[in-house]
Amino acid sequence: MKSASASITVATVLVVLFTVLSSFTVEAHVTANPSSAVSGAYFQSNFRVPHGCDGNSTDMVIVEIPKGVTSVKPRAVLPWNTTINMVALDVPIVTPSGTVNTTIGSVVWSNSVLLDSMYEDFGLQFKLPVMEGPLYWHVYQRCVNNAWNNWTGVPDASGNTAGFPAAVITVLNATGSTTTSNGGNGANPSSKPNSAGGSVFRSLGLQYTIAIGASAMLLALI
Ligand SMILES: *[C@@H]1O[C@H](CO)[C@@H](O)[C@H](O)[C@H]1NC(C)=O
Ligand SMILES: *[C@@H]1O[C@H](CO)[C@@H](O)[C@H](O)[C@H]1NC(C)=O
Ligand SMILES: *[C@@H]1O[C@H](CO)[C@@H](O)[C@H](O)[C@H]1NC(C)=O
Ligand SMILES: *[C@@H]1O[C@H](CO)[C@@H](O)[C@H](O)[C@H]1NC(C)=O
Ligand SMILES: *[C@@H]1O[C@H](CO)[C@@H](O)[C@H](O)[C@H]1NC(C)=O
Repeated sequence: MKSASASITVATVLVVLFTVLSSFTVEAHVTANPSSAVSGAYFQSNFRVPHGCDGNSTDMVIVEIPKGVTSVKPRAVLPWNTTINMVALDVPIVTPSGTVNTTIGSVVWSNSVLLDSMYEDFGLQFKLPVMEGPLYWHVYQRCVNNAWNNWTGVPDASGNTAGFPAAVITVLNATGSTTTSNGGNGANPSSKPNSAGGSVFRSLGLQYTIAIGASAMLLALI
């Protein structure tokens, strides 16, 4: 009886440790880093391409800008050629300096090669819409063998994602003074405090505290 309950406890400890360790494993999908942001805030994230296509090198990456995301500025990832494609805005934005009727629809990084054995971060800075929940980003990856990995899959009603999953940024409700009704368009995002970065570290810290606390409690029970 005693040894049975001890082995159950050991198994539980192993499950907890596995859960903690698995949070360190390398994600094989295209992901946004960081991926937790505050509603309506200026934000910077890197879309990480972790591998090629069946061993072939990547030669083009396209990131589609979700509707509502504004003030987009891509990172010049050298030696890639960075191309900005504009699209018409559904509703033009009126600013003191004139009417803005286009916005960035997609950013293309091309004319370079990323080996399958390496990863690269394709960065963007932008202003998030006022919203709450997952914001999906379609990322299209082309390889030298003309294969495409189209990272556009989003979960259906039952939570299943078909094909290559889209990158996702989880947008949290703004608290207190974070949402100022700053028109924002065209302003310099780098001058804005990025409160979301801090909350990522805070939530990571909390996760580890809970995981370590739980492991310690279970170890004490053995
Ligand atoms: C490139 O991909 C093809 C499948 O499209 C695969 O058969 C081939 O082995 C890959 N080449 C390399 C160098 O990995
Ligand atoms: C490189 O990007 C610029 C825009 O940033 C574009 O005008 C130009 O055509 C691109 N060159 C190539 C070779 O794709
Ligand atoms: C967008 O605005 C520019 C001037 O800023 C104007 O020349 C162009 O016709 C407008 N396009 C549309 C589709 O409204
Ligand atoms: C944030 O939460 C508050 C309180 O629950 C709610 O009133 C508000 O509408 C939410 N804002 C957003 C952007 O979801
Ligand atoms: C992937 O996206 C590219 C670019 O939009 C498109 O040309 C290609 O047909 C797509 N491939 C698949 C399998 O959906």
